[in-house]
Amino acid sequence: MYRTSEIIEQYGIEKNELTSYLIDNNIPIINEEEISKKYFQAVLSFIETKENRIEQKLEKAEATFKYNKKKNSVSIYQDDAISFLKKLPSSSVDLIVTDPAYSGMNNKLKLGSGRIVGKYSDKGKENGKWFGEFEDSEENYAIFLSECKRVLKKSTGHIYIMFDSYSLLSLGNVVRDHFDVKNLITWDKVNIGMGHYYRRRHEYVIFATNGNTRKIKNRSFPDVWRFKRIHSAKYPTQKPVEVFQSMIHASAEKDFTVCDPFLGSASSAIAAIKNNCNFIGCDISDKSIELSRSRISEYLEKGVDVLQTKSMAVDDKIFWE
Ligand SMILES: C[S@@+](CC[C@H](N)C(=O)[O-])C[C@H]1O[C@@H](n2cnc3c(N)ncnc32)[C@H](O)[C@@H]1O
Repeated sequence: MYRTSEIIEQYGIEKNELTSYLIDNNIPIINEEEISKKYFQAVLSFIETKENRIEQKLEKAEATFKYNKKKNSVSIYQDDAISFLKKLPSSSVDLIVTDPAYSGMNNKLKLGSGRIVGKYSDKGKENGKWFGEFEDSEENYAIFLSECKRVLKKSTGHIYIMFDSYSLLSLGNVVRDHFDVKNLITWDKVNIGMGHYYRRRHEYVIFATNGNTRKIKNRSFPDVWRFKRIHSAKYPTQKPVEVFQSMIHASAEKDFTVCDPFLGSASSAIAAIKNNCNFIGCDISDKSIELSRSRISEYLEKGVDVLQTKSMAVDDKIFWE
């Protein structure tokens, strides 16, 4: 049995909308507010079509809203990733593309604070770093993933999570407890980076679905993506927009809602806009929010990406072009 009051609270649907749907579709209401399990899938499919649920729920949760552009429906918030996801309605987001701030690499490699973010360290606030790190214990990561699962739509939900080699070894397997992992994609950065034993030239992306069988757009897409890393980026760990575009091209339809709870410099938001998707995201850091706001508004107003002025593609043709 499902209580209508709980559905309203959890999924952020308006009471009158739900009641009309139940009446119009002759769905029996037992004990004045319960519906049986057999009708729930139909109710959920209806709920997933309802717009504005995200905004209404976030407003109620008094989320720290930092930027909103109605036209393209791009909203960014300043918050901790888990706390932000907890404020979103269930089954409300079509696609999550995200690049979390893992602390494992610094700890395990004992590179010391600021080493990974290299020359940015002197500008930082906390121990010479620009931004805080997400606590990536298995327990915390499992909470993060279960919230991602809850907010992703059951019918269409796909998720892409970026990993470095160390976080992949320690946390990659946890993803399988929550999602159907479909592939491990390699992002080949083309140019060599730092590293004590073999210099790093790649990162990983886990691609998974939320238990549904929705396919990606094209069966011929490869699982190695070649895009140059961004040198002298204004934001440390800024990824090429093309990396996120690859995810969104493969997994989104026009007007899908894309979510990134580790926004950074908003590369994922620019990719979502380029793909005519709605975007919602958050980051904990002041600097991220400040840069993201101006990057997104410049892009929407003038079509200019101020943080990535040229393509990072190296092949004649990108696989999705
Ligand atoms: C690897 S960066 C993302 C870079 C981004 N993909 C880009 O292209 O610019 C990770 C981001 O997570 C943010 N972050 C760290 N801890 C966080 C937390 N607990 N909740 C939300 N964001 C967090 C950091 O401020 C940082 O901007």
